[in-house]
Amino acid sequence: MTYKVGCCQYDPQLLDIKGNLEKMEALLDGVKADLIVLPELAASGYVFNSKAEVDSVAEDGLSGPSATLFKRLSLANNTSYVLGFCEKSGDKLFNSLMMVNPNEEVFIYRKTHLFYEEKYWFQPGDTGFNVFEAKDGVKVGLMLCYDWVFPESARTLSLKGAQIIAHPSNLVLPWCQQAMLTRSLENHVFSITANRTGLEKNGDKELLFTGESQVVSTKGVLLHRMSKKEEGVFIIEIDPELAFDKAITEHNHVFNDRNPDFYI
Ligand code: ACM
Repeated sequence: MTYKVGCCQYDPQLLDIKGNLEKMEALLDGVKADLIVLPELAASGYVFNSKAEVDSVAEDGLSGPSATLFKRLSLANNTSYVLGFCEKSGDKLFNSLMMVNPNEEVFIYRKTHLFYEEKYWFQPGDTGFNVFEAKDGVKVGLMLCYDWVFPESARTLSLKGAQIIAHPSNLVLPWCQQAMLTRSLENHVFSITANRTGLEKNGDKELLFTGESQVVSTKGVLLHRMSKKEEGVFIIEIDPELAFDKAITEHNHVFNDRNPDFYI
């Protein structure tokens, strides 16, 4: 099976939902693919200074501006999209992602492991790690950025049947992109890490995001990596059925050789 996947990497502007959605729409204009992953908090920016700021860009996951745009794009381009957004649910704020399918299905994941000052603004996620069908029934597991530090995140998604892990990110530390080669290899799963780029300032705070959005094969091979600073979209072809092969040798298997009795 041939499946066209890729990333949209760009530099969102803090608190500018309208401008950021217009930018993503322009970058994705005319791009035909099966699955495209975009960054964490793709429409809101990241370096917040108050809960009021977070609240001002928080959206409903099914009917907010991000869901509305990506439902339209998904239908128009016959593409599944995964992107991070700032979610408001009742009086709670979550760092969330949505997967939007061409049939208008929307699936939500709320970030389990909060990074740095996210702990000031967001509730820890309450969805757990889940796998959903994207376009053509391909099984996609959802996790966000800092979740990579915990091998249990990718392992859980893989044990639940993910063929591809979609991993929107706002990375500032230098290790994730290389570590995701191992996450893919140890689970025989494709991974798509879509990071943002740019320097974001708010008052006396600033963070530099590391770009290098990438796709990794089930054998831990880097199939494509963007540069640290470029904005744009890349698309490559993969065969998601390769993720069903969990054999390491004829006598070894990434799941069947586990021995949970000896794990804490
Ligand atoms: C991160 O979780 N945004 C590093």
